[in-house]
Amino acid sequence: MDYTHGGNVYKAARTRAIDVASIVDFSANINPLGLSDKGNQRLKDAWQGLLNYPDPEYVALREALSVFHKCRMSQIFLGNGAIDAIFFLMENLKPKRALVLAPTFVEYERALTIAGSALTFFYLKESEGFRLDLTRYLKEAETHDCLVICNPNNPTGQLVPKSDMMQIIEFAKRHGKDLVIDEAFMDFTDMDESQSCIDQIKAYDQLYILRSITKFFAVPGLRLGYVLSGNSTFAESYWRKKAPWCVNYFAQEYTIGALEDAAYIHDTKHYVMEAREHLYQALSTIDHIHPHPSMGNYIFLKYTGTPALKESLEERGILIRDCNNYHGLDEQYYRVAVKTQAQNERLVASIKEIIDETVD
Ligand SMILES: Cc1ncc(COP(=O)(O)O)c(C=O)c1O
Repeated sequence: MDYTHGGNVYKAARTRAIDVASIVDFSANINPLGLSDKGNQRLKDAWQGLLNYPDPEYVALREALSVFHKCRMSQIFLGNGAIDAIFFLMENLKPKRALVLAPTFVEYERALTIAGSALTFFYLKESEGFRLDLTRYLKEAETHDCLVICNPNNPTGQLVPKSDMMQIIEFAKRHGKDLVIDEAFMDFTDMDESQSCIDQIKAYDQLYILRSITKFFAVPGLRLGYVLSGNSTFAESYWRKKAPWCVNYFAQEYTIGALEDAAYIHDTKHYVMEAREHLYQALSTIDHIHPHPSMGNYIFLKYTGTPALKESLEERGILIRDCNNYHGLDEQYYRVAVKTQAQNERLVASIKEIIDETVD
């Protein structure tokens, strides 16, 4: 399995001998509005704090997160990015047989394989718009002790509605299965927190929700993600095994500020929703480009033109994510982030130009 990710601006800059700053990166899905002002202010005040170790219990940070997510502080387990939280979680659950969507974020597979789990892929069908068919899913889930769902899903942008998630939770509860739901992109969905399953962690203690600060709060470089769970065995294991100070002081301070930044949160949601709709409409008008509706801050598309779309865009200083290394997809599929309106227009114009050139 190839675990390549989007967002590798350094490699693109090295390969093409260009400046990182000159690259427009549509291959990683990051809030186009940039940093939160309140978060940034705390970052600027944080330098002195580097002289001390961070609080190993992260009380202030976990308190801020517990207010934000309306859960208990004791239900929050921090990691150095959601990726770190995923690896820690899988290593602890050590499922015998895990059911993972395909296509989906590729790191569940790696984390589960390292944890010694056998994996089955639940293939989402293009003919069904890559939506999760609940009946087929629950049938397949019967023979697995751990279910992993990315919601909204990366790269397809599809959201499993809360009503379906409730049925999956009920099913997992009835059969005592671990249920891992990665909500790294949940903040961007139109319906927002009403779609999140965080409110269910108190109802089912084998439910584990993953969240990340990276995407919505625009800080892939800071590294903060976490698991939300009411499982006391997991809590005990986390505090016993997790290496101390796994989150740096800057990440802590930025996050505390950003979570309080109601204006930034509001503006981001509205900006991304509108920009996503414009980008989707603009892409829909281009021959050979078939975008899928999305609930994330990215659009998944099929490209049926001549090859090398990604390379041709790269020559113009634009990175997009090819989805070749996702199970169930091939070189026809791409994912593009929703960025600023101006950047999105540049992407659309460049794609049109490339397609026109290859047709001539
Ligand atoms: C669905 C999903 N979950 C988790 C992650 C990891 O996020 P983080 O930057 O917090 O490690 C990613 C990163 O791309 C992702 O797409």
